[in-house]
Amino acid sequence: MNALAKSVNRLRETWLLLFTAYILFTSIWTHISAGATAQELLRGFKATPDPKVSSFQPLLNDSTGNFSLAFLRVNKSQLALAVLHLPSSESLWLANLTKLASWSDTTQLFFNGSLVISDPLSNVFWSTRTDGDLVALLNSSNLQIQKLDEHPSVIWQSFEFPTDTLVETQNLTANMSLISSNGLYSMRLGYDFWGLYADFGSNSDQIYCKHTAMEAKAEVVEGQGPIYAQVNTDGYLGMYQNGSKPVDIQPFSSFHRPINGFLRLRLEPDGNLKGYYWDGSAWALDYQAISDPCELPSPCGSYGLCRPGYGCSCLDNRTAFHSDEECFPLETGDFCSEEVIKDNFWVLRRNGVELPYKEQMQYETTSSPGECVSLCENNCSCWGALYSNGSGFCYMVSYPIQTLVAAADESKVGYFKVREGVGKKKRNAAVRVEYVLGGLAAVVLIGTIGVWTYKMWKRKTRAEEGEVSPGPYKDLGSASFKSIEMSNGG
Ligand SMILES: *[C@@H]1O[C@H](CO)[C@@H](O)[C@H](O)[C@H]1NC(C)=O
Ligand SMILES: *[C@@H]1O[C@H](CO)[C@@H](O)[C@H](O)[C@H]1NC(C)=O
Ligand SMILES: *[C@@H]1O[C@H](CO)[C@@H](O)[C@H](O)[C@H]1NC(C)=O
Ligand SMILES: *[C@@H]1O[C@H](CO)[C@@H](O)[C@H](O)[C@H]1NC(C)=O
Ligand SMILES: *[C@@H]1O[C@H](CO)[C@@H](O)[C@H](O)[C@H]1NC(C)=O
Ligand SMILES: *[C@@H]1O[C@H](CO)[C@@H](O)[C@H](O)[C@H]1NC(C)=O
Ligand SMILES: *[C@@H]1O[C@H](CO)[C@@H](O)[C@H](O)[C@H]1NC(C)=O
Ligand SMILES: *[C@@H]1O[C@H](CO)[C@@H](O)[C@H](O)[C@H]1NC(C)=O
Repeated sequence: MNALAKSVNRLRETWLLLFTAYILFTSIWTHISAGATAQELLRGFKATPDPKVSSFQPLLNDSTGNFSLAFLRVNKSQLALAVLHLPSSESLWLANLTKLASWSDTTQLFFNGSLVISDPLSNVFWSTRTDGDLVALLNSSNLQIQKLDEHPSVIWQSFEFPTDTLVETQNLTANMSLISSNGLYSMRLGYDFWGLYADFGSNSDQIYCKHTAMEAKAEVVEGQGPIYAQVNTDGYLGMYQNGSKPVDIQPFSSFHRPINGFLRLRLEPDGNLKGYYWDGSAWALDYQAISDPCELPSPCGSYGLCRPGYGCSCLDNRTAFHSDEECFPLETGDFCSEEVIKDNFWVLRRNGVELPYKEQMQYETTSSPGECVSLCENNCSCWGALYSNGSGFCYMVSYPIQTLVAAADESKVGYFKVREGVGKKKRNAAVRVEYVLGGLAAVVLIGTIGVWTYKMWKRKTRAEEGEVSPGPYKDLGSASFKSIEMSNGG
C-alpha cells in the first residue's frame, strides 16, 4: 500500500513538473514570438540585424500578420529595409538608401522621431527626417509615422515614396514614379495619361508605352489639378482627377469578378507593367501592359533583333546572340562630344526591321531611304534611322540602339551607327584568325599529318558558322517572360 501511494505521489510530482515545464516553455515561446515583431514602434526603438538570419528579419507587423517591415538581406552581406508580404516574401516597398548598408551588428535602425538607418561612423544611410511619436504598419502595407497630438496625424508614409510597386488603394500622383528594380524603366503620369519610360543612356527618357484616359465616365478638365492613378480593389487600374468617378479604367482580368485577393501592380525589370492578385497561396497574373515580348523596350538587348514567336538574334547577322550578353556592348551618350564625327562610328544596315513602339516615336516624311539616312548621318545626336518605303516615314533614334523587331516587309530598312572599336575590331580579329587558320591548314595539307588536322579545322569552322542561330529572349531577372511567350502561343 505504502509503496503504491509513494509511486502515485511520484507520478503526480512528475506530471506537475512536466506541466510546469510545459507552461513555462509555451509562455516564454509565445512571449518571444510575439515580442520579436511588434505592432508599433515608439521613440527609443533600436534594432540591429541578426547574423543568423539568411533572408529577412521582421521588425514590425501589421494587424493581420500579412505584412511586415523587415531587414532584408541582399547580395548575401548587404541590408535593405523593406515592407514585405510575408506569405510570399515579396517586397512591396524598399527604403531608398543612399547606398546599401551591411548586414552586420554595426548597422542600426532606430526611431527617434525619425526612422533612421545608420552605422557607427555616423553614416546615415536613410532617414525619414520627421519628428513623430509612433511608427505603424497598416493592413494596406502602408508604413506610417504618426504624431500623437490632440489630433493624431500622419506625418510620413511609405505610400508617398513608392519603389517599383503600387498596391491596391495606394495613389500614384503626378510627382511620384514607379522605378523598376534595375533602374532602367519608370512609370509616370502626364496630363491625361500614364506612360512607361526607358532610360537608354541618352539625355532624355524614351516613352515606350502610353495609355491615354478614355474619359468615358468623367473628363479631364484643365485647371482642375493633376490626375492620379490607383489600383482599385474592383480589379482595375484607374485614373482620377478629383471626385470619385475615374477618368479612365484599365481593367485587369479579375475586373468585376469577386476575387477578393489583394492586388498589386509592379513595373518589372524587363519594362513590362504587371498586375497580380494574391489567391491565398500564390500571386496570380491579372494584367500586363505589354503582351507581345517583342514589343518590350529591349528584350534582346542592344543591337538585338526580336522575331515574334521565334526569339532573339543580333541585328548584325555576323554576330551570334547569347542571352547573357549584348550583341554589341551597351552604349551611352551620343557622338556630339567626340572630335571627328565621321570617324567614330561604322554603319550597320539591315533590311526587314522596324522599331517596337514606333507609335511613340517622332518621324519625318522623306521621299527615299537615302534622304532618311542623310538626316541621321551627320546629326551627332542620332544613333540610327528607320525608313518605311510604304509610308515614307523616317524614324530617327536619338538613344543608343536597343532591340529592333523583325518585319516581313524587306522594304523597311534600318541604318544604325555602331561606335568605333565595337564589333568591327572583334570581327577584323576574327578574319585575321581565319586567314591564319587557312594558311596553317594549307601548310598542313601539304604536309604528311595534314588530313587529321584539316578535319579538326573543318569541324571548328563549321562550329563557328553554326553559331549564328536564334537564342532565347534576354532574362532580365523576370522568369515570367518566357512564360508569356508560351501562354501567348497556347
Ligand atoms: C535622430 O537621429 C538623427 C541621426 O543621428 C539625427 O540627425 C536627428 O537629429 C535625430 N532626431 C531627433 C528628433 O533627435
Ligand atoms: C484594415 O483596417 C481597416 C481600418 O483600420 C479596417 O476597416 C479593415 O477591415 C481592415 N482590413 C483587414 C483585412 O483587416
Ligand atoms: C532614390 O533616390 C535617388 C536620389 O535621390 C533618386 O534619384 C531615385 O530616383 C530614388 N529611387 C526611387 C526608387 O525612388
Ligand atoms: C488617394 O487619393 C484620394 C483622393 O485624393 C484620397 O481620398 C485617398 O485618401 C488617397 N489614398 C491614400 C491611401 O492616400
Ligand atoms: C491575410 O491573411 C488572411 C488570413 O490570415 C488571408 O486569408 C489573406 O489571404 C491574407 N492576405 C494576403 C494579402 O496575404
Ligand atoms: C547578312 O546580311 C547581309 C546584308 O543584309 C547579307 O548580304 C548577307 O548575305 C547576310 N549574311 C548571312 C550569313 O546571312
Ligand atoms: C538630330 O536628331 C535628333 C533626334 O535624333 C533631332 O531631335 C534633332 O532635331 C536633329 N537635329 C537636326 C539639326 O536635324
Ligand atoms: C518603294 O516605293 C516606291 C514608290 O512607292 C516603289 O516604286 C518602289 O518599288 C519601292 N521600293 C521597294 C524596295 O519596295
